[in-house]
Amino acid sequence: MAILTILRYPDPRLHTIASPVAHVDDGIRALIRNMAETMYAAPGVGLAATQVNVHKRVIVMDVSENHDQLIALINPEIIASEGVEEHEEGCLSVPGVFEKVRRAERVTATALDMNGEPVKIDADGLLAICIQHEIDHLNGKVFVEYLSQLKQSRIKNKLKKHQRETL
Ligand code: NI
Repeated sequence: MAILTILRYPDPRLHTIASPVAHVDDGIRALIRNMAETMYAAPGVGLAATQVNVHKRVIVMDVSENHDQLIALINPEIIASEGVEEHEEGCLSVPGVFEKVRRAERVTATALDMNGEPVKIDADGLLAICIQHEIDHLNGKVFVEYLSQLKQSRIKNKLKKHQRETL
């Protein structure tokens, strides 16, 4: 296993639209294991392949208290959503920034699992938020893009300054 490098906003590669996975093979399973290790090490509750500069439709999540319930979804798609909820979000690609984002309260998603079998997930609470946030990454969208232009440029400046200081 390996810890992968996480792209930091405003890296333009975060805006790449990921391609569907045609075959769930050992390469995809290895990617999932490395993404999970990277997410747990960060630590975080979700990670999209986009964030480790692999532009395939793969996400990993674990919103459990003991960090022992990994969910890996391949080609995830939201097929139904319900309700509206505003919740404070963060992102491993936008360290130190937490902002409220409005999303659907409940979602139903379809995907393939690590064995290539179709799965359907009904999610609410943190998992529902996480699925929407990670699928956004696959579509090249970072959560701060829901915020006002003013807030977005403040966040960009803050992160650029931080990067200069830590180089
Ligand atoms: Ni994120």
